Amino acid sequence: MSCARAEQRLVFNPGLVLLVQDEVLVQGPKVLVTGATGLLGRAVCREFQSNGWMVTGTGYRRARPRFLRCDLTDEDAVRRLLQEYKPDVIVHCAAERRPDVMERHTDAAVSLNVHATSMVSKEAAVCGALLIYISTDYVFDGRNPPYGEDDCPNPLNMYGRSKLEGERETLRHCPDVVILRVPVLFGEVESVMESAVTSLWQKVQEATEESCPLDHCLQRFPTDTRDVATVCRKLAERARQRLTFFRESHGSQDSHGKSAGWETALVKIT
Ligand SMILES: NC(=O)c1ccc[n+]([C@@H]2O[C@H](COP(=O)([O-])OP(=O)(O)OC[C@H]3O[C@@H](n4cnc5c(N)ncnc54)[C@H](OP(=O)(O)O)[C@@H]3O)[C@@H](O)[C@H]2O)c1
Repeated sequence: MSCARAEQRLVFNPGLVLLVQDEVLVQGPKVLVTGATGLLGRAVCREFQSNGWMVTGTGYRRARPRFLRCDLTDEDAVRRLLQEYKPDVIVHCAAERRPDVMERHTDAAVSLNVHATSMVSKEAAVCGALLIYISTDYVFDGRNPPYGEDDCPNPLNMYGRSKLEGERETLRHCPDVVILRVPVLFGEVESVMESAVTSLWQKVQEATEESCPLDHCLQRFPTDTRDVATVCRKLAERARQRLTFFRESHGSQDSHGKSAGWETALVKIT
């Protein structure tokens, strides 16, 4: 997306100084959102779009017609996508996040949650994009909440293990990655079963007078996808400002001769 910005300049003529206002077209920075067809990805796309970013979203089965279709488990497709598009920022939302599907189709799910994440990270490093990786509170065992950024993960199921493995892959290729470990999400759904929060409605509908299969001891912290999307956008903007500052004050190198990077962050949002 490009937007018009007013720029003022002084024009000096003999005996006359003029203040001239020009309209200049400014191209917004580019963000690539994987999993753009999903519950969180849709909110992330909307958030960046409405704040002047050029957004490219990718999906898989639901991609067309609004988004690019890219199977992230296909290494060549990921490489082509990133090399053609060259985003400034990547928000990597795509994942298999249903623990039961994960257990039943482990190889396919690991391929998406770990190998595709590794490939996205590798290509992010090549094109110098800031990577924001969406992880989960399932990396913890839940025995000693609340958890901080430095607490030791101990995932109890395949889903949590694959997301933690994904985190490690992002750190291996992009040491400056931003990892967000988000709790259960709610937001605008395409069907009530899309979110663990709204699917409660279905369970209540199906309940009989005698029973309703709900967990009565689990404590969770549902989080609005719009809030996560805003955090992603603000982190991206803050990191971009810092990079611009580094580039302007040190060229592309810092005082120790290393390339100026994004600030490493593992951020807790609850
Ligand atoms: N939902 C939650 O409560 C929750 C909680 C904590 C963390 N998270 C994390 O948040 C992120 C987003 O979750 P979500 O709820 O938005 O997930 P979602 O609604 O299930 O969406 C998953 C996304 O992954 C895409 N995808 C699936 N297979 C793919 C493939 N082979 N290649 C490319 N894309 C593929 C899907 O595309 P198509 O649908 O077009 O096939 C979809 O856009 C995930 O990383 C998840 O681990 C979610």
